[in-house]
Amino acid sequence: MATIIKNGLIITDSESYQADILIEGEKISLIGKDLNTSGQHVIDATGKYVLPGGVDVHVHLDLPMFGTVSSDDHYTGMKAAAFGGTTSVIDFIPQDLSPLRANIEAWQAKAAPKAAVDYGFHMNITRLNEQVKKEMAVLPEEGITSVKVFTAYNGRLRLQDGEIFQVMRVARELGILTMMHAENGDVIDLLIAEALAQGKHSPEWHARTRPSWGAVESVLRGEALAAQTDAMLYIVHMNVAGEVDQLEYGRSKGLHVMGETCPQYLFFTEEDLKRPDGSKWICSPPMRAIEDNQRLWEGISKGSIQVVSTDHCPFYFNGAQPIEYEGKMVAIPGKELGKGDFTQIPNGLPGVGDRMPVMWSYGVNTGKLSMQQFVALHCTNPAKVFGLYPRKGAILPGSDADIAIWDPQKEVRYGVKVAQHRTDYNLYEDWMLKGFPETVLLRGEVIVNGKEWLGKPGKGQYLKRSLPKML
Ligand code: URP
Ligand code: ZN
Ligand code: ZN
Repeated sequence: MATIIKNGLIITDSESYQADILIEGEKISLIGKDLNTSGQHVIDATGKYVLPGGVDVHVHLDLPMFGTVSSDDHYTGMKAAAFGGTTSVIDFIPQDLSPLRANIEAWQAKAAPKAAVDYGFHMNITRLNEQVKKEMAVLPEEGITSVKVFTAYNGRLRLQDGEIFQVMRVARELGILTMMHAENGDVIDLLIAEALAQGKHSPEWHARTRPSWGAVESVLRGEALAAQTDAMLYIVHMNVAGEVDQLEYGRSKGLHVMGETCPQYLFFTEEDLKRPDGSKWICSPPMRAIEDNQRLWEGISKGSIQVVSTDHCPFYFNGAQPIEYEGKMVAIPGKELGKGDFTQIPNGLPGVGDRMPVMWSYGVNTGKLSMQQFVALHCTNPAKVFGLYPRKGAILPGSDADIAIWDPQKEVRYGVKVAQHRTDYNLYEDWMLKGFPETVLLRGEVIVNGKEWLGKPGKGQYLKRSLPKML
């Protein structure tokens, strides 16, 4: 049976209009006024907004780190995403194995049976040689049209500048996107050693040993390498005002550079790391200052930053204490691993389910973003940049029927009990939100109906992505 979404206000990245949506199979087949409902399953969206399902291009599911693993796997993280209105995610594959294809197969074996929404992959390139450069050709064949490189995490994930230059050259030849984690790994390592030697072990030292200027110069370094290789560059998890300046500078020079920020960098600062439970806010790169929050807000509202993602990489605050998840008690070691030593605190935060409701309440409702900008930043732009548009991120005939029916009047006291992440805390505990997804469809099937979960592991499809697009 076909489905009709009736009487909703459709919000796209460029307009809002009242219309009905006919869904046949997995696709939107028709959009129009007063569509005939006889014989159809009708979803009444009177008084509601109808948004494209969100696209979160930066998540880390089931990621081994610091002797533990990010606590959301490809089922629990994607379920949480769906409850927050997000129907597609892109996860990162670590480069642990050789050849590159073996990493893809291993990650796919973990993800496919569990996936609850549609998903794609980026490939981390953290070791480079001639063989790896040749093997990168396999990536676009597999629909992986972006690679991530790091200028930090020395001895673990970092590539040297000359290696990043070579990755960019190959990426340019293949037409794929280079994503960059921009911090100064050498300075960070020196400052960490000094802090530890001086007995400075508390969480705020995580931020103090990762100076903002390292991110700023690293973005410029990335842009210089992109300029010299004519590569397309995307700066991930921007957290510093100066990065926005550098991105605007690079774009003003005609470079093919884009960037994302994440909600945590818009709302929190280094001061949050000083709380008694400060380890909850530990992620890399770290929280900064109010001036940085403000400049990042300006960046997303002006369009110099194209995407809001989450860098969802949750850990329990107290992984010794099990929590109930779908009727079972589950404990996964987390932030307590670094009690008394900030360098041992797993880096990362929950966020995939928070992104859209929090940004709606504190972006749209405060007038910082229009509804169209909200859709652009959370749905359409990420789909366009990462080769998923118009299948994803759009409400158009022929697009996948991934839809979030949004209740703009719904008020929610948010927090860990509402968010569906598999962790024991939420950064937005007790925040009052207004505007929340009520019904979420994935390729025409209702997977979230109010508080009810109708999704299933394995229902999410792997997204073979097209080549990236410059915005
Ligand atoms: O702290 C974070 N963000 N962990 C995930 C790894 C990364 O660099 O994105
Ligand atoms: Zn990163
Ligand atoms: Zn990340």
